[in-house]
Amino acid sequence: MSNSPLDQPLPPALFQRQDNSPDAQFYAQPRLVTHIDDATINALTSFYEEFLPANCDLLDLMSSWISHLPTDARYNSVTGHGMNAAELAANSRLTERLVQDLNANPVLPFTDKSFDRATIVVSVQYLTEPVAVMQELLRVLRPGGQLCIAMSHRCFPTKAILAFHQLAAQDRAALVQEYLKRAGFTDISYIDRSPEGADPLWLVVGSKLPQLPE
Ligand SMILES: C[S@@+](CC[C@H](N)C(=O)[O-])C[C@H]1O[C@@H](n2cnc3c(N)ncnc32)[C@H](O)[C@@H]1O
Repeated sequence: MSNSPLDQPLPPALFQRQDNSPDAQFYAQPRLVTHIDDATINALTSFYEEFLPANCDLLDLMSSWISHLPTDARYNSVTGHGMNAAELAANSRLTERLVQDLNANPVLPFTDKSFDRATIVVSVQYLTEPVAVMQELLRVLRPGGQLCIAMSHRCFPTKAILAFHQLAAQDRAALVQEYLKRAGFTDISYIDRSPEGADPLWLVVGSKLPQLPE
């Protein structure tokens, strides 16, 4: 029997929320707003210039009307997932759109190895079953594919899990790294791209192992 700490469940108390009503109700009205400062958006877009290869297939999970992508970059496909169809319809960078409550059903309706990159922007704090979602992301990424989770310090307080209220920023980033580790990601790193005088930008990046030669 293994005694690895990875075999122990994460404490359920961390994932409690003030508002446990169905998320579909909370997100029923479109919010065509930005959730981080312009300078923070620019810092994320600059990071994406390094992180997103040309012609990749990208999955922007927990998206809305904006994906923060470099304006002149060309991707093969950009699949946007979120909670509100009108928000996704307003996102002109998306080539495919999907509405799904990941707290009700974390299983993604994509075949294995469909994407080269996945992103979650200022939203990971709303997941109550984050490891299940990360496992699904690992499944739908191609070998060598990468996931970037971008975090900041604002949130919808009633819908954010307790961990994001109670833990310090560094500990929240460590918790998100733990999600990726438990799901099977490798090369997990933390990158601070916070611009001065604006909302912080904390990034956690993980990779799916490349395909080994047979
Ligand atoms: C603060 S917004 C961020 C939207 C976008 N990523 C951005 O950068 O502006 C939070 C997003 O989390 C997503 N979300 C929240 N709860 C969710 C759930 N239960 N299942 C799936 N997505 C959810 C919704 O798409 C919502 O728009």
